[in-house]
Amino acid sequence: MYRIERVKSGIKGFDDLIEGGFPRGTTVLVTGPTGSGKTTFGVQFVYSGAALYDEPGVIVTLEERASDLRREMLAFGWDLEKYERERKIAIVDGVSTVVGLPSEEQYVLEGNLNTEDFLRYIYRVVKALNAKRLVIDSIPSIAFRLKKEEEVRSVLLQLNTILLEMGVTSILTTEAPDPARGRISRYGVEEYIARGLILLDFVEREVELKRYLLIRKMRETKHSMKKYPFEITEEGIVVYPSGELY
Ligand SMILES: Nc1ncnc2c1ncn2[C@@H]1O[C@H](COP(=O)(O)OP(=O)(O)OP(=O)(O)O)[C@@H](O)[C@H]1O
Ligand SMILES: [Mg+2]
Repeated sequence: MYRIERVKSGIKGFDDLIEGGFPRGTTVLVTGPTGSGKTTFGVQFVYSGAALYDEPGVIVTLEERASDLRREMLAFGWDLEKYERERKIAIVDGVSTVVGLPSEEQYVLEGNLNTEDFLRYIYRVVKALNAKRLVIDSIPSIAFRLKKEEEVRSVLLQLNTILLEMGVTSILTTEAPDPARGRISRYGVEEYIARGLILLDFVEREVELKRYLLIRKMRETKHSMKKYPFEITEEGIVVYPSGELY
Protein backbone atom coordinates (compact mmCIF):
# COMPACT_ATOMS: atom_id res chain seq x y z
CA MET A 1 0.00 0.00 0.00
CA TYR A 2 1.21 3.48 -0.81
CA ARG A 3 2.08 5.34 2.34
CA ILE A 4 2.40 9.06 2.52
CA GLU A 5 5.64 10.28 4.00
CA ARG A 6 5.04 12.37 7.09
CA VAL A 7 7.02 15.37 8.26
CA LYS A 8 7.16 15.82 12.02
CA SER A 9 6.09 19.31 12.95
CA GLY A 10 8.06 19.66 16.15
CA ILE A 11 4.92 21.06 17.79
CA LYS A 12 4.44 19.04 20.97
CA GLY A 13 1.24 17.01 21.00
CA PHE A 14 0.31 17.99 17.47
CA ASP A 15 1.57 15.25 15.17
CA ASP A 16 -0.63 12.60 16.75
CA LEU A 17 -3.61 14.59 15.50
CA ILE A 18 -2.52 14.33 11.87
CA GLU A 19 -1.34 10.74 11.46
CA GLY A 20 2.20 11.51 12.54
CA GLY A 21 2.95 14.74 10.70
CA PHE A 22 2.30 16.88 7.63
CA PRO A 23 2.31 15.08 4.28
CA ARG A 24 5.75 15.80 2.82
CA GLY A 25 5.74 18.69 0.37
CA THR A 26 2.40 20.05 1.45
CA THR A 27 1.51 23.70 1.97
CA VAL A 28 -0.30 24.54 5.19
CA LEU A 29 -1.95 27.80 6.03
CA VAL A 30 -1.83 28.82 9.69
CA THR A 31 -4.42 31.43 10.42
CA GLY A 32 -5.65 33.25 13.50
CA PRO A 33 -6.14 36.63 15.09
CA THR A 34 -3.27 38.72 16.38
CA GLY A 35 -1.24 37.14 19.15
CA SER A 36 -2.67 33.69 18.54
CA GLY A 37 0.74 32.08 17.96
CA LYS A 38 1.15 31.98 14.17
CA THR A 39 4.74 33.17 14.10
CA THR A 40 5.68 30.87 16.95
CA PHE A 41 4.07 27.91 15.18
CA GLY A 42 5.94 28.58 11.94
CA VAL A 43 9.32 29.17 13.53
CA GLN A 44 8.92 26.13 15.79
CA PHE A 45 8.36 24.02 12.68
CA VAL A 46 11.52 25.27 10.98
CA TYR A 47 13.62 25.31 14.14
CA SER A 48 12.65 21.71 14.97
CA GLY A 49 13.55 20.67 11.45
CA ALA A 50 17.09 21.95 11.89
CA ALA A 51 17.56 20.99 15.53
CA LEU A 52 15.85 17.59 15.64
CA TYR A 53 15.21 16.17 12.20
CA ASP A 54 18.20 17.17 10.13
CA GLU A 55 16.02 19.14 7.72
CA PRO A 56 17.24 22.60 6.75
CA GLY A 57 14.65 25.35 6.64
CA VAL A 58 14.01 28.90 5.50
CA ILE A 59 12.12 31.57 7.43
CA VAL A 60 10.84 34.49 5.37
CA THR A 61 9.98 37.21 7.86
CA LEU A 62 7.87 40.00 6.43
CA GLU A 63 6.42 41.41 9.64
CA GLU A 64 9.39 41.74 11.94
CA ARG A 65 13.05 42.20 11.28
CA ALA A 66 15.25 39.11 11.38
CA SER A 67 17.15 40.49 14.36
CA ASP A 68 13.93 40.98 16.35
CA LEU A 69 12.72 37.52 15.46
CA ARG A 70 15.99 35.94 16.61
CA ARG A 71 15.78 37.73 19.93
CA GLU A 72 12.13 36.83 20.51
CA MET A 73 12.68 33.19 19.71
CA LEU A 74 15.55 32.96 22.18
CA ALA A 75 12.88 33.21 24.89
CA PHE A 76 11.82 29.69 23.84
CA GLY A 77 15.42 28.52 23.92
CA TRP A 78 15.60 28.49 20.12
CA ASP A 79 19.00 29.71 19.04
CA LEU A 80 18.32 30.38 15.36
CA GLU A 81 21.72 31.97 14.85
CA LYS A 82 23.52 28.77 15.76
CA TYR A 83 21.75 26.93 12.96
CA GLU A 84 22.20 29.83 10.58
CA ARG A 85 25.95 29.49 11.07
CA GLU A 86 25.63 25.80 10.23
CA ARG A 87 23.54 26.71 7.18
CA LYS A 88 20.64 24.68 8.45
CA ILE A 89 18.44 27.75 8.79
CA ALA A 90 18.26 30.88 6.66
CA ILE A 91 16.24 33.92 7.64
CA VAL A 92 15.15 36.17 4.81
CA ASP A 93 14.70 39.71 6.10
CA GLY A 94 11.79 41.24 4.24
CA VAL A 95 11.27 44.16 6.57
CA SER A 96 14.37 46.32 6.83
CA THR A 97 14.39 47.72 3.31
CA VAL A 98 10.67 48.39 3.41
CA VAL A 99 10.95 50.51 6.53
CA GLY A 100 14.14 52.14 5.25
CA LEU A 101 16.56 50.65 7.75
CA PRO A 102 19.96 49.33 6.77
CA SER A 103 20.24 45.57 6.98
CA GLU A 104 23.36 43.58 7.69
CA GLU A 105 21.55 40.36 6.93
CA GLN A 106 22.85 37.85 4.45
CA TYR A 107 19.40 37.35 2.94
CA VAL A 108 17.50 40.53 2.31
CA LEU A 109 14.41 41.10 0.19
CA GLU A 110 14.53 44.39 -1.65
CA GLY A 111 11.76 46.87 -1.03
CA ASN A 112 10.02 47.33 -4.35
CA LEU A 113 9.77 43.75 -5.46
CA ASN A 114 7.61 42.45 -8.19
CA THR A 115 6.05 39.04 -7.85
CA GLU A 116 8.54 37.23 -10.05
CA ASP A 117 11.53 38.61 -8.15
CA PHE A 118 9.97 37.73 -4.85
CA LEU A 119 9.28 34.15 -5.89
CA ARG A 120 12.66 33.77 -7.54
CA TYR A 121 14.46 34.98 -4.44
CA ILE A 122 12.72 32.49 -2.20
CA TYR A 123 13.40 29.74 -4.72
CA ARG A 124 17.11 30.58 -4.68
CA VAL A 125 17.42 30.56 -0.90
CA VAL A 126 15.52 27.27 -0.61
CA LYS A 127 17.84 25.70 -3.20
CA ALA A 128 20.97 27.20 -1.61
CA LEU A 129 20.24 25.43 1.67
CA ASN A 130 18.59 22.42 0.12
CA ALA A 131 15.78 23.36 2.48
CA LYS A 132 13.01 20.90 3.27
CA ARG A 133 10.94 23.34 5.33
CA LEU A 134 9.79 26.86 4.72
CA VAL A 135 7.70 29.41 6.56
CA ILE A 136 6.43 32.66 5.08
CA ASP A 137 5.18 35.06 7.74
CA SER A 138 2.84 36.48 6.47
CA ILE A 139 0.65 36.48 3.34
CA PRO A 140 -0.97 39.86 4.03
CA SER A 141 2.45 41.46 4.24
CA ILE A 142 3.28 40.12 0.77
CA ALA A 143 0.02 41.54 -0.51
CA PHE A 144 0.60 44.97 1.05
CA ARG A 145 3.76 45.23 -0.96
CA LEU A 146 2.18 44.53 -4.31
CA LYS A 147 1.34 47.43 -6.50
CA LYS A 148 -2.19 46.15 -6.68
CA GLU A 149 -3.40 44.22 -3.71
CA GLU A 150 -5.94 42.40 -5.90
CA GLU A 151 -3.02 40.59 -7.47
CA VAL A 152 -2.63 38.56 -4.32
CA ARG A 153 -4.69 35.74 -5.74
CA SER A 154 -2.44 35.16 -8.72
CA VAL A 155 0.65 35.57 -6.56
CA LEU A 156 -0.64 32.90 -4.21
CA LEU A 157 -1.35 30.57 -7.08
CA GLN A 158 2.16 31.03 -8.43
CA LEU A 159 3.65 30.69 -4.99
CA ASN A 160 1.76 27.49 -4.40
CA THR A 161 2.90 25.99 -7.70
CA ILE A 162 6.52 26.83 -6.97
CA LEU A 163 6.35 25.42 -3.45
CA LEU A 164 4.86 22.18 -4.67
CA GLU A 165 7.47 21.92 -7.38
CA MET A 166 10.30 22.45 -4.91
CA GLY A 167 8.89 19.71 -2.72
CA VAL A 168 9.40 21.84 0.36
CA THR A 169 6.92 21.48 3.22
CA SER A 170 5.63 24.98 3.84
CA ILE A 171 3.72 27.00 6.36
CA LEU A 172 2.14 30.26 5.29
CA THR A 173 0.58 32.51 7.90
CA THR A 174 -2.37 34.82 7.45
CA GLU A 175 -4.86 36.76 9.55
CA ALA A 176 -8.29 35.53 10.49
CA PRO A 177 -10.40 38.66 10.94
CA ASP A 178 -13.38 36.88 12.48
CA PRO A 179 -13.09 33.10 12.74
CA ALA A 180 -16.42 32.72 14.57
CA ARG A 181 -18.25 34.10 11.53
CA GLY A 182 -16.28 32.04 9.08
CA ARG A 183 -13.85 34.78 8.07
CA ILE A 184 -10.74 32.71 8.49
CA SER A 185 -8.37 34.42 6.10
CA ARG A 186 -7.52 37.95 5.11
CA TYR A 187 -8.33 37.61 1.42
CA GLY A 188 -10.70 34.68 1.50
CA VAL A 189 -8.61 32.85 -1.08
CA GLU A 190 -5.66 31.59 0.94
CA GLU A 191 -7.56 28.65 2.38
CA TYR A 192 -8.48 27.28 -1.02
CA ILE A 193 -4.92 27.35 -2.26
CA ALA A 194 -3.33 25.71 0.77
CA ARG A 195 -3.63 21.94 1.16
CA GLY A 196 -3.94 22.25 4.91
CA LEU A 197 -5.53 24.82 7.16
CA ILE A 198 -4.93 25.25 10.86
CA LEU A 199 -6.79 27.82 12.91
CA LEU A 200 -5.27 29.19 16.11
CA ASP A 201 -7.79 31.10 18.16
CA PHE A 202 -9.12 32.01 21.59
CA VAL A 203 -12.31 31.24 23.49
CA GLU A 204 -13.47 33.14 26.52
CA ARG A 205 -13.73 31.05 29.66
CA GLU A 206 -14.82 32.93 32.77
CA VAL A 207 -12.43 35.86 32.98
CA GLU A 208 -9.74 34.46 30.75
CA LEU A 209 -9.04 33.67 27.13
CA LYS A 210 -8.05 30.10 26.38
CA ARG A 211 -6.09 29.18 23.31
CA TYR A 212 -7.28 26.46 21.00
CA LEU A 213 -6.18 24.90 17.74
CA LEU A 214 -8.48 23.53 15.05
CA ILE A 215 -7.42 21.52 12.02
CA ARG A 216 -9.91 22.71 9.45
CA LYS A 217 -8.37 20.85 6.55
CA MET A 218 -5.45 18.54 5.95
CA ARG A 219 -5.50 16.75 2.65
CA GLU A 220 -4.45 13.09 2.61
CA THR A 221 -4.96 12.98 6.35
CA LYS A 222 -7.58 11.71 8.73
CA HIS A 223 -8.09 14.28 11.44
CA SER A 224 -10.80 15.33 13.83
CA MET A 225 -12.59 18.67 13.80
CA LYS A 226 -12.25 19.11 17.52
CA LYS A 227 -10.93 22.27 19.10
CA TYR A 228 -7.82 21.29 21.01
CA PRO A 229 -6.51 23.42 23.84
CA PHE A 230 -2.92 24.55 23.54
CA GLU A 231 -0.51 26.77 25.39
CA ILE A 232 2.49 28.83 24.51
CA THR A 233 5.05 27.74 27.07
CA GLU A 234 8.72 28.48 27.56
CA GLU A 235 9.37 25.63 25.11
CA GLY A 236 6.98 26.97 22.50
CA ILE A 237 3.60 25.62 21.51
CA VAL A 238 2.26 22.57 23.33
CA VAL A 239 -1.05 21.02 22.20
CA TYR A 240 -3.16 18.91 24.56
CA PRO A 241 -4.85 16.23 22.44
CA SER A 242 -6.94 14.90 25.31
CA GLY A 243 -7.59 18.25 26.95
CA GLU A 244 -11.01 19.89 27.18
CA LEU A 245 -11.78 23.54 26.58
CA TYR A 246 -13.35 24.48 29.85
N1 LIG B 1 8.36 33.35 25.90
C1 LIG B 1 7.04 33.20 25.91
N2 LIG B 1 6.45 32.37 26.79
C2 LIG B 1 5.12 32.20 26.78
N3 LIG B 1 4.27 32.83 25.94
C3 LIG B 1 4.82 33.67 25.05
C4 LIG B 1 6.21 33.88 24.98
N4 LIG B 1 6.43 34.74 24.00
C5 LIG B 1 5.23 35.04 23.47
N5 LIG B 1 4.26 34.40 24.11
C6 LIG B 1 2.83 34.48 23.80
O1 LIG B 1 2.71 34.37 22.39
C7 LIG B 1 2.00 35.49 21.86
C8 LIG B 1 2.58 35.91 20.53
O2 LIG B 1 2.64 34.81 19.67
P1 LIG B 1 2.97 35.02 18.13
O3 LIG B 1 3.86 36.18 17.95
O4 LIG B 1 3.42 33.71 17.64
O5 LIG B 1 1.52 35.35 17.59
P2 LIG B 1 1.09 35.84 16.14
O6 LIG B 1 -0.18 35.15 15.86
O7 LIG B 1 2.22 35.67 15.21
O8 LIG B 1 0.82 37.37 16.41
P3 LIG B 1 0.89 38.63 15.41
O9 LIG B 1 -0.50 38.83 14.90
O10 LIG B 1 1.33 39.73 16.32
O11 LIG B 1 1.87 38.33 14.35
C9 LIG B 1 2.17 36.57 22.87
O12 LIG B 1 1.09 37.46 22.82
C10 LIG B 1 2.24 35.82 24.18
O13 LIG B 1 0.92 35.57 24.66
MG1 LIG C 1 3.22 37.00 13.96
